[in-house]
Amino acid sequence: MTGACVCLMVLARWRLRAVGGLGVGVLLLALWFLRAPWPGAGGTQEPQPTLTILIWHWPFTDWPPDLPGNTCARFGAPRCRLSTNRSLLASADAVVFHHRELQVRRVHLPLDRRPRGQPWVWASMESPSHTRGLGRFRGIFNWVLSYRRDSDIFVPYGRLEPRTGPLPPLPPAKRGVAAWVVSNFQERQRRVQLYRQLAPHLRVDVFGRASGRPLCANCLLSTVARYRFYLAFENSQHRDYITEKFWRNALVAGAVPVVLGPPRANYEAFVPPDAFVHVDDFGSARELARFLAGMNESRYQRFFAWRHRLRVRLLSDWQERFCHICSCYPHLPRGQVYEDLEGWFQA
Ligand SMILES: *[C@@H]1O[C@H](CO)[C@@H](O)[C@H](O)[C@H]1NC(C)=O
Ligand SMILES: *[C@@H]1O[C@H](CO)[C@@H](O)[C@H](O)[C@H]1NC(C)=O
Repeated sequence: MTGACVCLMVLARWRLRAVGGLGVGVLLLALWFLRAPWPGAGGTQEPQPTLTILIWHWPFTDWPPDLPGNTCARFGAPRCRLSTNRSLLASADAVVFHHRELQVRRVHLPLDRRPRGQPWVWASMESPSHTRGLGRFRGIFNWVLSYRRDSDIFVPYGRLEPRTGPLPPLPPAKRGVAAWVVSNFQERQRRVQLYRQLAPHLRVDVFGRASGRPLCANCLLSTVARYRFYLAFENSQHRDYITEKFWRNALVAGAVPVVLGPPRANYEAFVPPDAFVHVDDFGSARELARFLAGMNESRYQRFFAWRHRLRVRLLSDWQERFCHICSCYPHLPRGQVYEDLEGWFQA
């Protein structure tokens, strides 16, 4: 779980916290150079071979996208081929299994045909609360691709990048205080309980399948943009589990996320502290409601300060996620096996 992938992430964080961290940054950079051998280092200039990453079943669909040979070039990994052709099992450099299809048993692992030493990747973007059947996979997978920062191949739902070029547009004009989009509404969920506690004190406009106010296909962002705050309540609370509800529905739309998820410190590993409101910052739902409803414009604008130097990058494309395996490949740990994948993921 070391190597360039993690190092690049650390460097990205260092850039976020650029002020006062120069010494640390230089040190990290030096460590990174020492760890990661450059291709062609040591005088040889042979081109690197093309890697073949076999995706055993494309996530959530029986109709995989067309995957031209240069699919990964646009994600910075030109010598990398994604394929869903199972005839390549014998020769693939890594094989990826997406958990959902394993869980519902649409897919079975080709254990009896596995070439010796072939790295197998377990891939999932779901939280532990929505992941079943991991106990069956002891001692099988070598690498994990997920939103968890300690994954071998770390693929967050989004991240902040340094902004270059023109200043960001002003936040759109606001007409409401708080919006929430929800398609799966169940009383036992913490997010529903919190909504019930907030509703008497704060007008929350609820959209989505569960609300009787469904949104048309491309209306979510423009709808949320009219509100000051967006309830970015995760369906379950787990470390690093910060999904498109936060990155897209709130930040990209231009609304300030009010988050229910992992603790504040976990969010601050991804975004600056003044980019969001955390429900844990308040003693009660009533206090939170009072804070949101009573906020003046100058206080509100402070939630947008970071946008002058950073911008949101969504990482929602499975092709990009899988191509990231190639960027990480030279530095992924060889010989590692997840003996207790369930224990690791549920921890
Ligand atoms: C799958 O790969 C095999 C072996 O390289 C090849 O013969 C076959 O044509 C490929 N199938 C498709 C549909 O590309
Ligand atoms: C706006 O609210 C902040 C924080 O509550 C407060 O410190 C500030 O004085 C207020 N500004 C105005 C102009 O009312």
